[in-house]
Amino acid sequence: MNKRGFASDNNAGVSPEVLQKLTEVNTGHVVGYGDDIYTAEAVNKIKEHFGREAIPYFVFTGTAANVLSIAASGKPFNSVFTADTSHINVDECGAPERFSGCKVISISTKDGKLRPELLKEHMIGFGFEHHSQPGLISISQSTELGTVYTADQIKDLAEFVHQYGMFLHIDGARLSNAAVSTGKSFKELTSDCGVDILSFGGTKNGLLAAESVIFFRKELAHEFKYIRKQGMQLASKMRFIAAQFLAFFENNLWERNASHANEMAQKLYFAVKDVPGVRITQTVESNGVFACIPKDIISDLQSEFFFYVWNEQNGEVRWMTSFDTTEEDIELFRDRLKQLLDKRK
Ligand SMILES: Cc1ncc(COP(=O)(O)O)c(C=O)c1O
Repeated sequence: MNKRGFASDNNAGVSPEVLQKLTEVNTGHVVGYGDDIYTAEAVNKIKEHFGREAIPYFVFTGTAANVLSIAASGKPFNSVFTADTSHINVDECGAPERFSGCKVISISTKDGKLRPELLKEHMIGFGFEHHSQPGLISISQSTELGTVYTADQIKDLAEFVHQYGMFLHIDGARLSNAAVSTGKSFKELTSDCGVDILSFGGTKNGLLAAESVIFFRKELAHEFKYIRKQGMQLASKMRFIAAQFLAFFENNLWERNASHANEMAQKLYFAVKDVPGVRITQTVESNGVFACIPKDIISDLQSEFFFYVWNEQNGEVRWMTSFDTTEEDIELFRDRLKQLLDKRK
């Protein structure tokens, strides 16, 4: 049996409904590279959920969705502002800079969320040829710290960036968790707020290497088919990515999966928050719980439940829940955590 834990929502498997859909579409021959009925249907579904003006393209990884989004909306002399905790800043091995040429500028935040007040001082150097030209703001929804932007906060950011002629990108690897958390639809959290381009994630919510880039501005999308191909993300057997998005929307699988993951994070939070020795460091708004625990118990706890240390300096750890987290996972984890803390007394 594989070790269970709270390392990441991508440590969970694939939703059975998705596997079933893959089997259903696995008959006969269809044209490759997206010229097939399943892709057409999936594009249509995305338009239903995000608005008719949405223009989606499927890719394999969340990093690719982010990097290609930046390449499509920025020039090599542009800069991209993002929270210092963001995936594009810390977890993409410099791929955004390498592939797009844009300079990634990180901004420190308390909760992973950018706000106009934090960005204002960086809005300089427009038209000055020695300075990277501010081109894009990239936020994550939910954030890498498990916090969630309200629709109004996204609207404020969109208004702010548009005032400078810049674009707003959302890394929505966990947009489903944010939608459930805020009670808003995908459209209400993106196109209705004035978002220009979105990396829309499926993998963390029950799919298998199925992600997408969604444009809300036609002019940014018009060369994307070349950018995606150069970026090595044009799937020949596209029907198998598209079919997963069909399963994602069918009977609101996305919502059931994300609701479960979020509920499990709440349960985990309530199970550990008052345990002496545990200090919760972020508000639990989606499917992640962040906490400081004594550094000397971390490796013992990790040996039974897989999870990552977020900040090696202060012993902050990250516990992610997923669509398949069980109450038993949480109880066993809490009991072992308590046991290790008791042993220190
Ligand atoms: C916020 C965020 N964005 C994007 C990704 C996409 O990553 P990958 O390229 O591993 O699919 C992740 C995965 O950890 C993530 O947490």
